[in-house]
Amino acid sequence: MNAQDAKQLVKQFDLITAHAQMSIGVLASGHVVALHLGARMPAGTDLAGVIQELGRASYLADTDGIHDLRLEQLPLVYPAFGTPDMRTPAINIRRANGSSVLDLRFQSAQWLTTKPLPDGLPALRAAARMQTLALTLADSKAGVTVTLVISADVAHDTFAQHVVIKNTGTTPLHLTRAMSWSWDLLNDQYDIITQSGAWGREMHTNRRALQPGEQGVNSKRGASGHGQDPFVALASAHTDWQQGQVLGASLVYSGDFSAKAAVDMHQNTRVQVGIAPFDFDWKLVPQNSFTTPEAVIAVTDGGLRELSHIYHRAYTDCLLPKYWAVKPRPVVINNWEATYFDFDREKLLALADHAAAIGVELFVLDDGWFGRRNDDRSSLGDWWPNEAKLGGSLDRLIAEINARGLQFGLWVEPEMVSPDSDLYRAHPDWIIADPDHTPQLARNQYVLDLGQRVVQDYLIKTLVGLLDAHHISYLKWDMNRNLTDVFSQALPASQQGECRHRYILGLYRVLAALTHAHPEVLLEGCAGGGGRFDAGMLAYAPQIWTSDDTDAIARLPIQRGTSLVYPPQAMSCHVSLAPNEQVHRITPLTTRTQVAQMGAFGYELDLGACTTAELAQLKADIAEYKRLRQVLQFGQLDWLVVHDPQNEYAWQKLSDTMLVIDHVNILAQPNTVLKRLRACALPPHTQWRSQASAQVYSAEYLMTIGVAIPQPQGDFVSSRWQFEQVT
Ligand code: GLA
Repeated sequence: MNAQDAKQLVKQFDLITAHAQMSIGVLASGHVVALHLGARMPAGTDLAGVIQELGRASYLADTDGIHDLRLEQLPLVYPAFGTPDMRTPAINIRRANGSSVLDLRFQSAQWLTTKPLPDGLPALRAAARMQTLALTLADSKAGVTVTLVISADVAHDTFAQHVVIKNTGTTPLHLTRAMSWSWDLLNDQYDIITQSGAWGREMHTNRRALQPGEQGVNSKRGASGHGQDPFVALASAHTDWQQGQVLGASLVYSGDFSAKAAVDMHQNTRVQVGIAPFDFDWKLVPQNSFTTPEAVIAVTDGGLRELSHIYHRAYTDCLLPKYWAVKPRPVVINNWEATYFDFDREKLLALADHAAAIGVELFVLDDGWFGRRNDDRSSLGDWWPNEAKLGGSLDRLIAEINARGLQFGLWVEPEMVSPDSDLYRAHPDWIIADPDHTPQLARNQYVLDLGQRVVQDYLIKTLVGLLDAHHISYLKWDMNRNLTDVFSQALPASQQGECRHRYILGLYRVLAALTHAHPEVLLEGCAGGGGRFDAGMLAYAPQIWTSDDTDAIARLPIQRGTSLVYPPQAMSCHVSLAPNEQVHRITPLTTRTQVAQMGAFGYELDLGACTTAELAQLKADIAEYKRLRQVLQFGQLDWLVVHDPQNEYAWQKLSDTMLVIDHVNILAQPNTVLKRLRACALPPHTQWRSQASAQVYSAEYLMTIGVAIPQPQGDFVSSRWQFEQVT
């Protein structure tokens, strides 16, 4: 066989959605290759030329003794290591004999009638119109099969992939790398987009041109983390919010991950997302399988706006818990920034009185209600009410809150334990700790080893018991530190590299049991703010506390970044006091309100300290939010073009009948005139009545002429325009 023969396409699999196509080929050599990922082609388009017409690069190894069959130049699907492709592989193994050589070739392909879900892991639910391909690659000598389970959701325009890796040999092997998705592009003319930050400033969007070498984000913290989002996008240089080609890969996973692109010697790009290979080592005994998390892939030439809409629709319809996905979210008062740990029954009821009077719907009792907890030094793990502090039973407090017309919610941090707690004293072996080192504390707490079944069962019993016993409508699930000393006291030496992933599998098992037992309880995720805002958590928690920074101006880039991938109703956003606790900035109440109304809305302040005029304003704001709730929570979010992107943010929410446009001007400038703001995406030839003036505008007028932004009187001011469609 010569190289051209070996590169003959013997099979082509096309996965097709409403607007996109992913095509995979099998070559005569048995290699599985990426043929196309992008716009739909005419049915039956033969993509053999993509491989046949590849040029020839020098100084690369031949394959199978065939001169010029250069694996390193082929766009491979799920590349392995030890072959003539010396780029970073998707999978890496260590066999019992010490070898890591793996040569995966096509074994079989099967179209499935239903999408199999990855075992024990969250994933997009099967949709009505869906194609699923199970593509198996194998190396019989190494005793490994790899099955790529790829589905195309026609209506949602998404592709999803998880991978099942099986030890078909007779001796155990170790898996040290197992990506969820790996795709080779025969080009490097892209910008890479990732989201980065830190506590209090999560999800700032970064964009830069791809360079030779590896680039991207990863986490080694045991959680997806404040510093990076399990997501990567590649956009053509001219792609912006409105238009242009972009490919996104979002990982449905909450632990250590890697999301990156690597540009090789020949200006080709390999993009990969999956569990972070760093410190990962999974022992796979004969006949056992390992399943990766699911990656959700979207491609569009509709710019970042269409990419974000694809993710919003898919995650709303197929990922968020069904019960809550499109249910209106209540207006919340959370006592944390109002009282911190310093509360008693009187203070809580006073806050509830004020909240009820202004129209709040749900009262959340945050940290400090349990054990003997009056600061962050004790009691995590002791999840029974501190009746002395609550001035009676939890049920009595709940009844009193309910009697004021408010639902009741509670804060928990189940994954943690304080050294000063009955739970720790009873089960010191339940924490993540290496016996030869004193485990590190963070916020005075240890992390429970959620990989242990006994710990999972204890948490399920405790939390389901809490929800069974009390009339709780909402649970805030916090996680206030990352993992150090990663070692499980329940695993043998040969399996310590499984600890981090087992932790996440355990977390998902507990969350699944809890949400199965109480689907009606609104679960809000949190990890010191957005320290674990990811698609994995969203499968259980339909909303997540976006950031501990509630300053309206600081929230703008955080919420814009978060909403690039995650639906706006999943972002929990509260109005807090000015000056703000984190940045000490004083912003007008209207600006704080408008920014918080981008997501699931509420308050996090001492209403007792508000003036009568402020309370009247809050009451009016809540009434407006309730009137606009459907469009604000579930309308399509679009970021609008502004004149000065350094200083202005503007966004719109659009439903079938309503349009709300918000604008924030950060600093006032002398002697400038603010420009106009143009709406987008309105259906052609529709008419829209302004709520303020009752004047009717055409969609074309609003999208080409737009609204005039008032001259700002001072810093941090906002404007809002509301329109109703005239039928
Ligand atoms: C974290 C959360 C806060 C609050 C505190 C309580 O920091 O992000 O909202 O719940 O914990 O300790």
